[in-house]
Amino acid sequence: MRILGIETSCDETGVAIYDKKLGLLVNKLYSQVKLHANYGGVVPELASRNHILKTLPLIQAALTQANMQGSDLNGIAYTAGPGLVGALMVGATIGRALAYSLQIPAIAVHHMEGHLLTPMLEINPPKFPFVALLISGSHTQLISVTSIGRYKIIGDSLDDAVGEAFDKIAKLLGLDYPGGARLARLAQKGVPGRYIFPRPMTNKPGLEFSFSGLKTFVAKTILTNKNDLQTRSDIARAFEDAIVETLMIKCRRALDLTGFNRLVIAGGVSANKSLRYHLNKMLQQRGGKIFFARPELCTDNGAMIAYTGMIRFKNDNKSDLSILVRPHWTLEELSILD
Ligand code: KG4
Ligand code: ZN
Repeated sequence: MRILGIETSCDETGVAIYDKKLGLLVNKLYSQVKLHANYGGVVPELASRNHILKTLPLIQAALTQANMQGSDLNGIAYTAGPGLVGALMVGATIGRALAYSLQIPAIAVHHMEGHLLTPMLEINPPKFPFVALLISGSHTQLISVTSIGRYKIIGDSLDDAVGEAFDKIAKLLGLDYPGGARLARLAQKGVPGRYIFPRPMTNKPGLEFSFSGLKTFVAKTILTNKNDLQTRSDIARAFEDAIVETLMIKCRRALDLTGFNRLVIAGGVSANKSLRYHLNKMLQQRGGKIFFARPELCTDNGAMIAYTGMIRFKNDNKSDLSILVRPHWTLEELSILD
């Protein structure tokens, strides 16, 4: 079985083909980063217009690279939400129409389930049950996962998502959008401990996150200190350390609460090296195990949608022809596969 996956929920056009036996055959990405860089963030209308330009050529390029034709596909998966409504509509319309013309099933995929399942594309995939930490530009969630579709959100963000906090602080440090990975690189030059920032919501019990106070604290520090490279690196380091330790404390609590000893981290911020290192160490000390995807599959991509589409494939070809996208859609609403 071969599934084409289309991702257009934000500022990356991703197209991939997943084969049930052979695994990932092609994974193509067109990043709109340069298009939005001048604006310091994603401009939704520009994102939609660019997806329209790029999606079909990328599908054609993926088929050519895999030496396949549309008729070799068994299903087409597209991101139906959550995300930017106009951007979602592009991938959904193209994906649904293509499936209709080929008379094969269309599969509406949840973007965060895509992220969550991506570590399963690696060797030694996680077994159920596990705790998942989903950390992206719009989500910071802890999920108890007992099977496909049995997702319980046990921790969530009260305000800014962790990736959003990275991007906003990066911007104040003079780094281009999206600044998460750039901030992490700057932090490598920073002296640890020169600045100490709060670890929000760690003094009281619970699994909730809040990063807006930390963001304000760091913003004030940036504005009231020298603007030389070393100071900026030291602030970046202290910010990253604060985020990493906060996430570590919450993950430890989530593992204690559920009694699970496997932790999956997914979403763009899971590419962060310091976070991977410290969480890995914590899991080793507990006799547990951590799972994450290779860095290029942590950020948005078509592979996660193709893979999730394969997992959720139903050979009935009955999905609605009137196309539905869901900009707001929680993981807890997904159907359970047994
Ligand atoms: O999952 P993703 O590609 O898109 C969403 O679904 O939101 O996540 C993007 C986020 C951005 O905020 C980006 O700055 C952040 O992931 N990110 C990182 C790193 N790489 C990407 N944050 C920290 N360290 C990184 N290495
Ligand atoms: Zn994402």
